[in-house]
Amino acid sequence: MTVDFIDIADFDQATLTAILDDAVAMKSGTKPHGERLAHQTVAMIFEKPSTRTRVSFEVGIRQMGAVPLVLKSEEMQLGRGETIADTAKVLSGYVDAIMIRTSRHEIITELASHATIPVINGLTDRSHPCQVMADIMTMAEIKAPSLDFSAMKVAWFGDGNNVAASWIEAAAVFGFQLDLAVPPALGPDSSLDHLMALPNITMTAKPEDAAIDADVLVTDTWSSMGMPGGYSNSGDRQGLLRPYQINESLMAKAKADAIFMHCLPVYRGQEASAGVVDGAQSVIWQEAENRLHVQKAIMAFCLKR
Ligand code: CP
Ligand code: NVA
Repeated sequence: MTVDFIDIADFDQATLTAILDDAVAMKSGTKPHGERLAHQTVAMIFEKPSTRTRVSFEVGIRQMGAVPLVLKSEEMQLGRGETIADTAKVLSGYVDAIMIRTSRHEIITELASHATIPVINGLTDRSHPCQVMADIMTMAEIKAPSLDFSAMKVAWFGDGNNVAASWIEAAAVFGFQLDLAVPPALGPDSSLDHLMALPNITMTAKPEDAAIDADVLVTDTWSSMGMPGGYSNSGDRQGLLRPYQINESLMAKAKADAIFMHCLPVYRGQEASAGVVDGAQSVIWQEAENRLHVQKAIMAFCLKR
């Protein structure tokens, strides 16, 4: 039976904690792993641009002794109408795992259902679980080394997008308080309604309420990949989202030792002020680095190594 990594909600706390422990051990150097994926090949399919996911997966694959294969979907027969199912079956005969960044979440579930090898989610329109695992690892390093998050409060600001969805799933599994400050028109996907009903997850249209006593303040671009207008022209969304910017006055409402997180790429002056992005409470570079470590642990978990 293959083990996919498609969504955080697919796993229990003990399983995700074991992955995080493994990531911490590999990062610290206490766990040699240069041969851990020896003789394995991992294909990465990209339907959308990437800097962090592309580089961190490729470097991580090499650091564990495996061979990475980067495939752009428009250069594959996928781009000319070959089905996802046929692609899954063919790749299963060549490589040992697939990481895919795709536009529609249904594509990854279709791929996984026809592949006989593990499939890892490198971002869909609905979720970004590898990112939020890196975020949880970063939160643990700074705020909760024991991986007990029960006293933590995370506040999300802005678009109720794919990254927000994975944070919602993480709050459901790990049990931390998650307060989302989002414009009512841009709330999370209705498929998450059952999690939004949990007592530790709330939604408000008032950013200052969500910020109060927060340990972590997190946001993301106003305009995700694939949205019309591109990152620099989010049109009407700008007006809706501007009140949710994380800036110095919002940070001041949180705990004095609160941290600022962002999956990157960040657009200074839009979802967060430059002063916050580049300020003393920002942990964005550590967060980005942790993509490498946690994804190595996710690959080892899926490949049972
Ligand atoms: N955060 C993130 O996934 O970045 P990339 O789009 O650069 O991969
Ligand atoms: N929400 C963003 C995340 C980018 C890493 C997007 O989907 O474009």
